[in-house]
Amino acid sequence: FIAGPCCMVIFGVTGDLSRKKLMPAIYDLANQGLLPPGFALVGFARRNYADEDFASVVLEAVKKHARTPFRQEVWDHLAEGVRFVQGSFDDDAAFATLADTLRSLDETRGTGGNYAFYLSIPPNMFPVVLDQLSEHDLAKAEPEPDGYTPWRRVVIEKPFGHDLTSAKELNALVNRVFPEEQVFRIDHYLGKETVQNILALRFANELFEPIWNANYVDSVQITMAEDIGLGGRAGYYDGIGAARDVIQNHLLQLLALTAMEEPTSFEPMQLTTEKIKALSATKLVAPLDETTARGQYTEGWQGSEHVVGLHQEEGFDPQSRTETYAAITLHVENRRWAGVPFYLRTGKRLGRRVTEIAVVFKRAPHLPFDQTMTEELGQNALVIRVQPDEGITLRFGSKVPGSGMEVRDVNMDFSYGEAFTESSPEAYERLILDVLLGVPSLFPVNAEVELSWRILDPVLAHWAAGGKPEPYEAGTWGPTSADEMLARSGREWRRP
Ligand code: BG6
Repeated sequence: FIAGPCCMVIFGVTGDLSRKKLMPAIYDLANQGLLPPGFALVGFARRNYADEDFASVVLEAVKKHARTPFRQEVWDHLAEGVRFVQGSFDDDAAFATLADTLRSLDETRGTGGNYAFYLSIPPNMFPVVLDQLSEHDLAKAEPEPDGYTPWRRVVIEKPFGHDLTSAKELNALVNRVFPEEQVFRIDHYLGKETVQNILALRFANELFEPIWNANYVDSVQITMAEDIGLGGRAGYYDGIGAARDVIQNHLLQLLALTAMEEPTSFEPMQLTTEKIKALSATKLVAPLDETTARGQYTEGWQGSEHVVGLHQEEGFDPQSRTETYAAITLHVENRRWAGVPFYLRTGKRLGRRVTEIAVVFKRAPHLPFDQTMTEELGQNALVIRVQPDEGITLRFGSKVPGSGMEVRDVNMDFSYGEAFTESSPEAYERLILDVLLGVPSLFPVNAEVELSWRILDPVLAHWAAGGKPEPYEAGTWGPTSADEMLARSGREWRRP
């Protein structure tokens, strides 16, 4: 799976994402021989760099953040194809220069007229950039004399809108210039090995699928907890909040992969069809006051570090009602999942960084043990540890050694580090390679984006209508209303 000749153009190349993820991922791909000799990288931004200055910026990012070891010869070859185009997004002349630069790379570097445009920019900038690409004939290539038509693709980052209405507008805007098959929406969770492994776990084994349904499953908990705060991210996060930032995309994608039916193949179309079906069946549970929770962190201790609350973070409105924690209850209304709650939660400044999907099974219908012997027996659970400490845990009861028949929970663990000598690519490595290869399986289509907003919109409207997020102390596991949300049905959150 080596990409063919091509060029990637990054708009917003001086941003954080580009330095921390995109540039290192491109180098890592080159280092593994997954990029063609005829690959070029063009940065586009307002700042004025000469090509060499920009190459130094890329080099610094690579040395700091790349996953694979630095090799001078790989870098030297990559650097020969690095260019910079200076301009603002409404600068017609800059786009003319971009078009010239790309043409000249086709000739000197052999990029073959195949271009991927990565929009690492705020969505309000999309219209002008898309128009410029279209006006400079960059969004669509004409067939060449030998019959080959070079490809043109656009890569966009979330937020994919602010709600259903704005998402539809955004999709229409993008599709006006790039038809859907040329659009690659990044949800970097889908680039994670552990997330792709959900499909292998479910559909490559006989063991799990027979019990993967409402007959045996009590509930599913999807957790994405982070220990970091929001210092430095006010510009993006204030007014957005945890539900839009993470539930709308990453967590609903995890839900779709966990809940969907077996696709007839892993062709993008088949996979997408099943995810769409799962998301279409996914519904909120009334009343939203009881089945959702939101919170906002206050100062506290994160390990040995004392950290400030959201209202003291730089750039946040001291009155901000932006939630930094969100939890919602969903039902997937189909035969497989009837009545099984899917609990989704995410938050900043929580006890520790962990993302996991816990499939919690029903209790055994009968326990032929003395009750005092099963006090430490919980519910069986299969926990997909997305990160860190990637792997899977199966939790079940086992006899405690000794003369009695006491039963206690134990864990059976699979860990990537122990089971595989192969190392996992970074999510962005995998996704960028797929963009260049033109394989869309790991990219949500606009129908998924719209369905996700359809699910979330009523919660956002409910929260906007009144009340405010409940404070929770940094370093804890979130607001008490989130615990109450589960306690109402006699359940509790797992402490990962
Ligand atoms: C991003 C969110 O999509 O994912 C961030 O915008 C969040 O708020 C990040 O911190 C987490 O990604 P990961 O891969 O570290 O779990």
